[in-house]
Amino acid sequence: MTEKITINFTVNGEKETREVYSDQTLLKFIREVLFLTGTKEGCEIGECGACIVLLDGKPVNSCLILAVELDGKDLVTIEGLSKNGELDRVQQAFIDHAALQCGYCTPGMVLSAKALLDRNPNPTDQDINEALSGNLCRCGAYQEIRVAIKASSNK
Ligand code: FES
Ligand code: FES
Repeated sequence: MTEKITINFTVNGEKETREVYSDQTLLKFIREVLFLTGTKEGCEIGECGACIVLLDGKPVNSCLILAVELDGKDLVTIEGLSKNGELDRVQQAFIDHAALQCGYCTPGMVLSAKALLDRNPNPTDQDINEALSGNLCRCGAYQEIRVAIKASSNK
């Protein structure tokens, strides 16, 4: 039976308390309750990476997680990366190096790249390939993405 559960969490730096349905995915909750529609709904089976968000700093497929699992955690969506009107350096590097793609895959790509650079400021090509292995682009702009991530590393 579907029940409502109260959860406490932080989203893009703001503390929140909300009721969620026990069977609601984090993806649906982010888009349809928090109205943060930068997180995209693609395959809904964990294969495309369009729905990736950062949970306690780690990239997760929000289509595979229940909203109740957000309780006590820190959520960052693509809307939370820019600060005071300034883009995050990863976002700026994607623009500068023509790594921007369609609105579907770009938010997930940027968040995967952000998580990688936060834990490994000087990633190798292999590190980048592994970090983006869960992000699919049917159009194949991976080379530009690698260049953008290298440019926003500490090198
Ligand atoms: S929508 Fe979640 S991985 Fe595709
Ligand atoms: S540009 Fe988004 S799927 Fe290829």
